[in-house]
Amino acid sequence: MARLRHFAIVVKNLDESAAFYQKVFGVERVGEEHLEFGSGVYLSDGEVNLALLKYRSDAAAGVADSANFVGAHHFGFQVDDLDEVRNLIEANGGTFHFDLGDDETKVNFERKFKDPDGIIFDISQTGWLGTPGGVSDIIPPPRNKNPADNSAMQEPKGGSPTMALTTQSVLERIDQIHKEKPMYGHPLWTGMVENTFNLDQVRYLCKQHGGIPLHNQKYHGRLYVICPDPEWRELIAEVVYEESTGRIFSDGVSHHTLYLNYAKALGLGREEMYDPPYCGGVVAFQAYFEMICAKTFLEGVSAHMLAGEAAIPGLYGRIAGQLRKTFALDEEGVKYWTVHDTADAEHSDVGRRLLDQFATSQEDRQLVLKTVQQTIDIMHLMYDDIYRGVLELADKSAVA
Ligand SMILES: [Fe+2]
Ligand SMILES: [Fe+2]
Repeated sequence: MARLRHFAIVVKNLDESAAFYQKVFGVERVGEEHLEFGSGVYLSDGEVNLALLKYRSDAAAGVADSANFVGAHHFGFQVDDLDEVRNLIEANGGTFHFDLGDDETKVNFERKFKDPDGIIFDISQTGWLGTPGGVSDIIPPPRNKNPADNSAMQEPKGGSPTMALTTQSVLERIDQIHKEKPMYGHPLWTGMVENTFNLDQVRYLCKQHGGIPLHNQKYHGRLYVICPDPEWRELIAEVVYEESTGRIFSDGVSHHTLYLNYAKALGLGREEMYDPPYCGGVVAFQAYFEMICAKTFLEGVSAHMLAGEAAIPGLYGRIAGQLRKTFALDEEGVKYWTVHDTADAEHSDVGRRLLDQFATSQEDRQLVLKTVQQTIDIMHLMYDDIYRGVLELADKSAVA
């Protein structure tokens, strides 16, 4: 006999509903899935899978006005033979609806049908997550997402998602990500601060790093265009305005001019700064950064303001100090570095406000963390590649 093992209900908020059923019945949160048709959180008592769903479209939900629909949606039987049961369904007036999943040997694969009254139900051979025999190969449940388990509500090191994320815990994890891969921890920047590079090396780094500040409009310029909120657009407009004019923080000198002044102080001309042969790491980072800043506002802003800008305070002042001391750069020559040291310190609560407003669901918060992590990872690949070039210039001139 077939086994009734799956109930699917459509809810307003996946995490809130999950917490409700977990608290009341002690069921376990066994996984989640985010697919094109919608998102699902799966609960289980060890026998039956209760799927909490949020559909993205009427077509996927199979109901009109799915945006406002909540309630019981469908149920599912685990069966021994999909074909045999399909024949029986059709011989008795049921009709095939569609397959969810493309591999019927995988857990959570569903063949969906409608009964003679049009009511949707699934059959599955492998079962669902949390049913006996339904082995997980989709996103495993975050370890402490069961509200009954409050024993480990403190953030673990390493930042893997283990509990419901809040603005505060997202900010703490972002801090942790920065601590694990600080810009200053990379030998490229340690070398700058500790004065182990000769002039050729510093010039090379200056040219390669110019791939970011000299092309900034391609990144936050996009963020301005896609920002959905007029008040935040104002703030981004200020960033774009400051970068391109310097009229807020840097006495009317644009940031690209500040960077060119730095290059000039090292003996590098404008032409070679705008069109140097960039190393692969810089080209790759530019491509990534342009892409992510144009993707969704939340991803763009996470990459730009939570991964990028947050890495800077403190370090740039020290770089400026070293450049003055070792290469006798004047204030104009180091102003790019000093301006960024102070300008960015003022933005410390921007992250919190951004997260409060734009990252309101668990999915959003996960996306923020993923974006910050990947941006920092790619940034470090760029540093690695620049550093390789810097090392090749190690012996070509005496250390200054
Ligand atoms: Fe289902
Ligand atoms: Fe800037």
